[in-house]
Formats: sequence, C-alpha cells, structure tokens
Amino acid sequence: MRVTWTWAIWSSLTVAVAVAGGCGGTDHSDRIDGVVGLYAAVQETESAWSSSIARGEDVYETSCAECHDAGTMGAPDFREGGGDAHADDEYVDVVLHGLFIRMPGFGDELSDQEVADVLAAIRAREAGGA
Ligand code: HEC
Repeated sequence: MRVTWTWAIWSSLTVAVAVAGGCGGTDHSDRIDGVVGLYAAVQETESAWSSSIARGEDVYETSCAECHDAGTMGAPDFREGGGDAHADDEYVDVVLHGLFIRMPGFGDELSDQEVADVLAAIRAREAGGA
C-alpha cells in the first residue's frame, strides 16, 4: 500500500507541474474546452466556417506565418500537413502555451475566438483550402 500511495502522490504532482508549468508562462488550460467549443460552433454553418477561416487567416498572417510559412526552427508548414499534435484540444493547448522553447505561447495575446479562428485557418491549410 505504501508503494501505491507514493505513486499516487508522485503522479498527481507530475500532472500538476505539467499543467501549471509550461515554460513559466500563465496557465491557460481552463480555456481549452471553451476554445474547442467555439471551434465546434463555427463549423455549424458554411458561412460561419468561412468567416472564421478568414479571421483566422488574419491572425495567422500577423502572428504565425513568420515562422510557420518559413519553417523557422522547424515550425511545420500547415499547408504540408501539421506535425504531431493533431487533436483539436492539443492544437489549442499549443497555441495558448507554446511548445518546448521554440514555439511561443499566445494565450496572453489572443482571445478564445481568435484561437478558435486560427485553428480553423490551420485546418483549412492542412486541407489545402487556404
Ligand atoms: C517564433 C516562431 C513561431 C511562431 C511565431 C509561431 N510558431 Fe507555432 N511552432 C513553432 C515551432 C518551432 C514549432 C515546432 C516546435 C517544436 O517541435 O519544438 C511550432 C509548433 C506549432 C504547433 C504544433 C504543430 C504540430 O503539429 O506538432 C502548432 C499547432 C502551432 N505551432 C501553431 C502556431 C500558431 C497558431 C501560431 C500563431 C498564433 C504560431 N504557431 C506561431 C514556431 C512558431
């Protein structure tokens, strides 16, 4: 039993550090579900989807293209498919918090809607539609 408890405590600590830690930036994890919900909502009609992509493209050009279209430091070009994190909530997590030290987090700069829109733009790029 002692071993089990030690492991239980250790794993919850590890999870807490992973969630709160990142690279020392603000934790925006509680926004992930909301952004995924907004992203689901814009897919309900064709017009909401295309305007979300259009807004997301503006965000992308302003904040993301300098690395992602140029392949800076290995940033994946979404027009050629993304990298490893393909689930919606994983992409949202990366945009809010960044990834390792090479991809900055945008949770302090972008609203939930902007993150949802930029995800729509990424998906459109992955699908070859932007
Ligand atoms: C300073 C350069 C830079 C900027 C600006 C930047 N990224 Fe990144 N991004 C990267 C790098 C580099 C990686 C790969 C990280 C790694 O593997 O270490 C990455 C990875 C990602 C990933 C994960 C890709 C995958 O499939 O694994 C997503 C999603 C992403 N970026 C979205 C964005 C969005 C959206 C923006 C704009 C809001 C943005 N990035 C701005 C450099 C950048």
